[in-house]
Amino acid sequence: MPALPLVPLPAETLPGGAAGRGADGLELDAATRIDADPEAAGTERWLRAELGAATGLPLPPGRGEDARLRLTVDPGAGLGPEGYRLIVDDEGAVVVGHDPAGVFYGAQTLRQLLPAAAYRRSALGNRVWRLPDVRITDRPRFGWRGCMLDVARHFMPKHGVLRFIDLMALHKLNVLHLHLTDDQGWRLEIRRYPRLTETGAWRRESQVGAGGPKTFDGRPHGGFYTQDDIREIVAYAAERHITVVPEVDVPGHSQAAIAAYPELGEGGPVEVGREWGIIETVLNTSDATIEFYRNVFDEVMELFPGPYICVGGDECPKGQWRASASAQARIAEEGLQDEEGLQSWFIRQFDAYFAAKGRRLLGWDEILEGGLAEGATVLSWRGTKGGIAAAHAGHDVIMCPTATSYLDYRQSESQEEPIPVGTLLRLSDVYSAEPVPPELEAEGADRVLGAQVNIWTEHMDSPRTVDYMAFPRLSAFAEVAWSSHARSFDEFLPRLKGHLERLDAIGVEYRPLDGPHPWQQRPGVEGRA
Ligand code: ACM
Repeated sequence: MPALPLVPLPAETLPGGAAGRGADGLELDAATRIDADPEAAGTERWLRAELGAATGLPLPPGRGEDARLRLTVDPGAGLGPEGYRLIVDDEGAVVVGHDPAGVFYGAQTLRQLLPAAAYRRSALGNRVWRLPDVRITDRPRFGWRGCMLDVARHFMPKHGVLRFIDLMALHKLNVLHLHLTDDQGWRLEIRRYPRLTETGAWRRESQVGAGGPKTFDGRPHGGFYTQDDIREIVAYAAERHITVVPEVDVPGHSQAAIAAYPELGEGGPVEVGREWGIIETVLNTSDATIEFYRNVFDEVMELFPGPYICVGGDECPKGQWRASASAQARIAEEGLQDEEGLQSWFIRQFDAYFAAKGRRLLGWDEILEGGLAEGATVLSWRGTKGGIAAAHAGHDVIMCPTATSYLDYRQSESQEEPIPVGTLLRLSDVYSAEPVPPELEAEGADRVLGAQVNIWTEHMDSPRTVDYMAFPRLSAFAEVAWSSHARSFDEFLPRLKGHLERLDAIGVEYRPLDGPHPWQQRPGVEGRA
């Protein structure tokens, strides 16, 4: 059988069809009905809406004999969490999922068996929709297959986030980590503290590129999600078996909050950040500030039902605390060693608070410094060291080291790459990454919940530029996170080419494999190599 361009690659794909039957596959037509178990009703609705729109077929519900598409859940089928089996023959197509997520992933694979036009939003006219005879058994390697999207540096309008969720689901990714606050913007409505968005969601201009001397665009930027926007995003993601993990960054990366409520800071008034990079402005360590953020997190926990709440914790410069009488008094009063200890103390104020509400604290690997909070899960980004140390100490970790996971990094050495920053991170580098470091093979590998890639948007000012930086590297990452087989980039490339036709049908402005289109370049805007 010719290789089907399935991405991510399933665990096992065999030619299908029962022995003795024809092998010309299953044609979907006006008579095709979908029969789904009640537990698979969400996927049934999704499949009818998506495939119905693309094919123009009604795909109504049906029972038994008439139904050519069957969606069932069977935890006893030995498929494993999120696993599924998909069998297509001339009698029908059956998806058996271990759980509702497994059925959804089976339906995603079923859609990939059709021509790329199955990804359009409306039918192109008379077409034959034939699924090939096949027997696929599949399950993910990792339970955390994530992507962090920074909507703070540049706001992504809600429709862009919903579209991104669909793109994640197509790739069988299941965690959207939303970086909601930073120095340059606060993007989440908090009822109790309205100035966080009235003031904190807007900046008067933005730095252009990363070169020196710094230049600015002179154009205001901003935006935020109302609480109803967030409820919609969270529910939309959940229907696609994606958990949204919120991040509200403390005690660094907080200048937008301090601009809105100066009493949270250590110094005088500040404006919402206009410049990229690590900013000296940090939160103070008063009881009132801790209380303020606990109140913020109460609303965050109301909106985001998932187990993980991310407090950031990265890149908190210590200069302001060194010079602050109240920070020094806190260090003395709590018997802390130094400012690292103070950062650790700050994070701990939320660990027990979350635990009491049945949630778990997630933070970047700086939260290891000065001692890791008891229940913390660590995002290992400054290489793998933090993740290894945390796993050895019995903590759960998510691997996202810069060298293989930072999709803001440049995609080639070419001068044509727009605003090149970071180290070189080619498609093939993302594809070849191994999330479990060798140091954990003997012990601690079970602490690696999975992996994610991070999309920091200082230099991505629209969903179009996010498309360019994210794709197709996110497609390569999906295979790293989902598939268990040995990976060969040469084997992947032809499948990816088939997959790019899907992205074309959807309208994803990915980076072409041979370099950017002219309009994807940013001549004259310096990066930082
Ligand atoms: C980070 O890249 N500051 C987590």
